[in-house]
Amino acid sequence: MSEERSDVLVLFGATGDLAHKKIFPALYDMVARGTLKEPVVGVALEDWDAKKLADRAHDGIKTAVGRVDEKVFAKLASLLRYVSGDYRSQDTFDKLKEALDGYRHPLYYLAVPPSMFEPVVQGLEQSGGAQGARLMVEKPFGRDLQSARWLNRVLHLVFEEKSIFRIDHYLGKEAIQNLLYFRFANSFLEPIWNRNYVESVQITMAEDFGVEGRGKFYDEVGCIRDVIENHLLNILLLLAMEPPTGRTADDLIDEKVQVLKAIRTLTTDDVVRGQFAGYKKEPGVAPNSAVETFAAVRFMVDTWRWQGVPFYIRAGKCLPVHATEVMVRFKRPPLAVFDGFKGDQANYVRFRIAPEVAIGIGARRKAAGDGMVGEQVELSALDEETSGDMEPYERLIGDAMNGNAQLFTRQDASEIAWRIVGPVLDDKTPPPVYKPGTWGPAEAMADFAPPNGWSDPGK
Ligand code: BG6
Repeated sequence: MSEERSDVLVLFGATGDLAHKKIFPALYDMVARGTLKEPVVGVALEDWDAKKLADRAHDGIKTAVGRVDEKVFAKLASLLRYVSGDYRSQDTFDKLKEALDGYRHPLYYLAVPPSMFEPVVQGLEQSGGAQGARLMVEKPFGRDLQSARWLNRVLHLVFEEKSIFRIDHYLGKEAIQNLLYFRFANSFLEPIWNRNYVESVQITMAEDFGVEGRGKFYDEVGCIRDVIENHLLNILLLLAMEPPTGRTADDLIDEKVQVLKAIRTLTTDDVVRGQFAGYKKEPGVAPNSAVETFAAVRFMVDTWRWQGVPFYIRAGKCLPVHATEVMVRFKRPPLAVFDGFKGDQANYVRFRIAPEVAIGIGARRKAAGDGMVGEQVELSALDEETSGDMEPYERLIGDAMNGNAQLFTRQDASEIAWRIVGPVLDDKTPPPVYKPGTWGPAEAMADFAPPNGWSDPGK
């Protein structure tokens, strides 16, 4: 496909939840910023028209942004079209092709379950609509290595790899981009960013709410598939990768893939799973479900830079806070000249990913007073104002329309990630139960921690 910007956006799953909550608010922001002028064609089974789609979009935008600027919305509404039909019927794709008459480079966005990917791409192919087009696909990208490989085969029958954009919305977040920037735009980190100085790396993604009506989806997925295999592993890659040798999307992705290749395949000893008390009573959840709502995982990266440094990832629902944080903890000084470090006191770099964006550097200094007694301090850079930040979906839809693949997951990366987590998926042993509002199953977690313990992100 050419390097030209896509001239129309086609949204499969236009009446669905994701479109309502995330995609239409992103399109609205794009219109407000002047970065979307192309038509948007919604496709779904419902017998709607463009007006009804616009009403639904308005509702989603209102929920997301609070007050809708009606002038901006009117512009967005004027771009909307709608084609209704079953994804399994060729007629739908023929109708769509007619609606796209005159457009040469559509971006097809598949905000539909993976089981629909095959009929949709086949339908596009048969109608002649795939030519010159790009394809953007939502997560989950498969459930394991075998299904990811199969999906890749299905997509490649019709689209070449450079026209496929696999979304992980975490990569579109401002704070995640900042992580990459901070690492490679500063020189002071490089000499210490390795096994000689780093003791451990911890990534925590804590949510203080449950499955929020998504019980059916969640019970087929579980914590490892939902956020660890994709969002959190991607953070690990940004922390562990070597500097890219150039500025193209492939230069960056090549370095991430090098790290993925070096990550050891997990065994059950590398994982502690948990389930919050009351999960089995959630609507849509099987009464005997053995699905984990919490997982703590230890990854080892077998490279010269990281040999022997444990990377811990911990994520879950119904934990004490809602926060995502990275803690890179350095080794302690070789001799305690003064009072030394206690507990989880440390030199560290802390990246706060959510809810605020912040970077903190942990250090010791002398506490005022007689003795040479220290105290722990943090030098921090905090983004006080993040309300104008670009939301991930806005950034990613814009990038896909421009053919910029840097923030998307390439085929090889999508498959290697499943290789790594494969052996710990679908454990049928009932996970230990934890009380909502705690850091997972206490007993099982007692012996599972980085050296000098976990660092809990504050509120
Ligand atoms: C989604 C998961 O991918 O990410 C959800 O399916 C999770 O379970 C969500 O809550 C978190 O994303 P964010 O951007 O709200 O941190």
